[in-house]
Amino acid sequence: ASLTCAHLLRALLGAFSLLFQLFSPRRPAMSGKKLPAVSNPLLLLSATQLAKKIRRKEVSSVEVVQAYIDRIQEVNPLVNAVVKDRFDAALQEAAQVDKLIEEETGGEEVLEDRLPLLGVPLSVKESYCLQGMPNTTGVVSRRGIVATVDAPPLVQLKRAGAIPLGVTNTPELCMWWETHNHLYGITNNPYDLERMVGGSSGGEGSILGAAGSVIGVGSDIGGSIRMPCFFNGVFGHKTTPGVITCENQYPPASGRDKEYLSLGPMCRYSEDLLPMLKIMAEPNTHMLSLNTKVDLKKLRFFTVPDDGGSPSTYPVSRELVEIQSKVVERLEADLGVKVQEVRFPELHYGFRIWDTYLGLSDDEGKPPKPFAQLMGEPGRPAWPLWELLKWMVGKSDHTIPAIVMGLHDMLRVFKPSPYIIKQKEKLQRDVEELLGTDGVFLYPSHPRVAPKHHHTLFRPTDFAYTAIINTLGLPATQCPLGLGKEGLPLGVQVVAGKLQDHLTLEVALYLEKTFGGWRDPGAN
Ligand SMILES: *[C@@H]1O[C@H](CO)[C@@H](O)[C@H](O)[C@H]1NC(C)=O
Repeated sequence: ASLTCAHLLRALLGAFSLLFQLFSPRRPAMSGKKLPAVSNPLLLLSATQLAKKIRRKEVSSVEVVQAYIDRIQEVNPLVNAVVKDRFDAALQEAAQVDKLIEEETGGEEVLEDRLPLLGVPLSVKESYCLQGMPNTTGVVSRRGIVATVDAPPLVQLKRAGAIPLGVTNTPELCMWWETHNHLYGITNNPYDLERMVGGSSGGEGSILGAAGSVIGVGSDIGGSIRMPCFFNGVFGHKTTPGVITCENQYPPASGRDKEYLSLGPMCRYSEDLLPMLKIMAEPNTHMLSLNTKVDLKKLRFFTVPDDGGSPSTYPVSRELVEIQSKVVERLEADLGVKVQEVRFPELHYGFRIWDTYLGLSDDEGKPPKPFAQLMGEPGRPAWPLWELLKWMVGKSDHTIPAIVMGLHDMLRVFKPSPYIIKQKEKLQRDVEELLGTDGVFLYPSHPRVAPKHHHTLFRPTDFAYTAIINTLGLPATQCPLGLGKEGLPLGVQVVAGKLQDHLTLEVALYLEKTFGGWRDPGAN
């Protein structure tokens, strides 16, 4: 094969990762340190159950919010996931909630209907604007910029009674899958502090996995919800694109981003996915069939074991192959369904398809915003080659993936390959035909469990496993499946046809029941 963008990107990152080992300053050692086990039972209830208990005055919102504040204060020095909190404001809001419940005369049903998440704490990805919280997405030159309004899904979640406790870390400009930037530093995996949390909703994944949060909000253009949920052992749903509005995120969507970018809920307990999605999708909830009862026995199930050995990804690890087979076995035994194995040869080009489509111009012919421009804002565009030189002597404000992204943009002068476009179109047709409105397939969320910090640089395009689903515009739920031999979370993504989000959410409920869902990283 000729030299492609993927190969170039990979070679560049490979070389830089080597340099990185030489030049990176030593981090404070996390080796030997471990998260404490959860001691407060309130932290082990879903948001749905917490809201019910709060409504019934079995527990106060202040108690619940305080329990989460205590847990964040206990774990955040270890994981560095929450980058700015609003604990005082949250406690005041919780006190108001308790007062409101005291005064409500309409009974529990009225509250449930109007304010389904009343009094429940929420965490939010920093790139998602939350009024009064930083609006930086990890860019040093944006230090001090504060969000003036809430992103629309946050407006809805607050209106439903949820109480945000703070915002969580992302990679610089959300354009990488390790959560690290020079404004807030690096975020650690609660199951092994020397490992990465994934990205870009990495702070969310980490704080949820660490039991410092029960529900959170993420966004996903190449796996940014599903990867951190996979690496940190929690549930995450990438909604069908176009349902949840993506205004008031930073950086704003440009080019064709909106076709591939999806927002969605991230949570520790699968029963919270559906109510959260209903709220976040307002006023477009009617586009989805979220009130339709799903009978799993009537679905058609498929399993796609891997991408057919693409040169841009690592082979799926043995324990992940095995757990996906286990899911197939259980589905067949429990539901009496037949799970058919299918392979799509075009998945081989997963990364190149995603990269090609993200680089295309929008319907009006406007190309995506150059990355170097985003890196420099609110000042002048950054100059990636110069930043690279500065980085080598430890003087750049930018992370190496961001600098390489800036350089990678320069390669976009090449015209998209007609061969790749044809592969994508065929894949789209075949997948849609297979799934229809009653089919789901299992696909690895990632080829292996959480790598050590910075090791993404050695395998920069492994995220093709999640990214291809964005290009296809399909909904997908990442589901945790217990811990592997190194004590790290396993998982799988469940994918359905466009707008069939209710199917994957139902499968998530089943998988949690069958495989036990989230595990306390501090246990054992
Ligand atoms: C966040 O910052 C960007 C660019 O600096 C700005 O355009 C946007 O309005 C800000 N968002 C909010 C909600 O303040």
